[in-house]
Amino acid sequence: MTEKTILVVFGTRPEAIKMFPVVHALQADPRTRVVTCVSAQHRGMLDQVLEIAGIVPDFDLDLMKPDQTLDGLTAALLTELGKVMDQVSPDWVVVQGDTATAMAGALAAYYRKLPVAHVEAGLRSHNIYHPWPEEVNRKIIGTIAKLHFAPTDVSAAALLAENVDAAGVHVTGNTVIDALQWVSAKIAAEPVLAEGLAEIEARFSGKRVIGVTSHRRENFGGGLENIAEAVRRIAAREDVAVVFPVHPNPNVRKVMDAALNGLSNVAMIEPLDYPHFARLLSVAEIMLTDSGGVQEEAPALGKPVLVMRETTERPEGVTAGTAKLVGTDVDRIVSEIFTLLDDKATYSAMARAHNPFGDGQSARRIVELLANDG
Ligand code: UD1
Ligand code: UDP
Repeated sequence: MTEKTILVVFGTRPEAIKMFPVVHALQADPRTRVVTCVSAQHRGMLDQVLEIAGIVPDFDLDLMKPDQTLDGLTAALLTELGKVMDQVSPDWVVVQGDTATAMAGALAAYYRKLPVAHVEAGLRSHNIYHPWPEEVNRKIIGTIAKLHFAPTDVSAAALLAENVDAAGVHVTGNTVIDALQWVSAKIAAEPVLAEGLAEIEARFSGKRVIGVTSHRRENFGGGLENIAEAVRRIAAREDVAVVFPVHPNPNVRKVMDAALNGLSNVAMIEPLDYPHFARLLSVAEIMLTDSGGVQEEAPALGKPVLVMRETTERPEGVTAGTAKLVGTDVDRIVSEIFTLLDDKATYSAMARAHNPFGDGQSARRIVELLANDG
């Protein structure tokens, strides 16, 4: 059997986290030659993951611009990713998730009639403005891809309902569970990797920690202000501490800085690298987030997660009872958090570990399928 060249394309923090287990597995497999191309749609947050995962990209397009627009970013991605594809002539182009990088990577491959494999396929909220623009990005990739690695039966069913060829749809689990298990083992072997939170943990000793993240574009212009106000009211409780690694998007930063700077029970910090975020997930009593990935990680750790969105393309956490959609209404967020803090029965009902998103073997299944052309 001849070695297959697999071009793996990614560019943001969550893609890097969910793709590094696939890259590691491809590197270890003698049937495949992996070529990595990062768009660097994110810079600092991408580099944090590359470093911990030990990945040195073969191509680094370094495309991030401050406060980049969707159209400018997408145009640059399409042009530059296409050039890499022309140079590499891969047997497969692999993209992950729903970002601009993933969508443009799939489209550039399609323009060259290269087969595309999609990691984390079939997630659907059925609302093209929530999440925006990710729902449409996923649908575009779903139309182009030949192999669809669906994390769960729910996501596989969504693809089949869109008449995607069933022969290309495989339930593999989500590689985020592989990544979380990998980083947890790494921290266990080298605890120093996650000791950077010690100062904050000491400062908030005796308090009940709530971990917060927020970055969604559909929440710009109203939603983020509500989230900031909710955090301010939650942190007014003396028994509570909020640890909030703030996304570097300037549209997020300015809102959070204006509302939360200087509050004694809030630590607004730089984005954490993955080992430190895993540590935050383990010390937090509750996660409050609009992130996709955190909705998947929290159930695996049995951490109640309140999701500040109107819809979710990841209903499995809600069905399992560990995640709850709370939207972006200030009173609703505050009262849901207070209920979890004050009502032990409600908390215990949510704080049970489930793994609806996978068993940590997803990358192995994906590589097997790629090596055998599905
Ligand atoms: C992107 C993805 C989103 C994903 C999110 C994960 C798209 C359209 N959006 O959104 O699906 O959920 O990443 O975080 O693909 N910035 C930095 N340093 C970084 C990263 C970002 O300074 O390491 C700042 C830059 O000013 C950049 C801005 O954040 O222009 C926005 O980055 P961008 O990738 O366009 O959008 P996100 O909101 O991060
Ligand atoms: N994450 C991280 N550091 C942080 C915040 C999040 O490593 O400070 C990780 C988190 O564990 C998850 C991923 O980043 O795996 C989620 O990324 P993000 O919320 O930016 O994007 P989304 O998942 O919403 O696309």
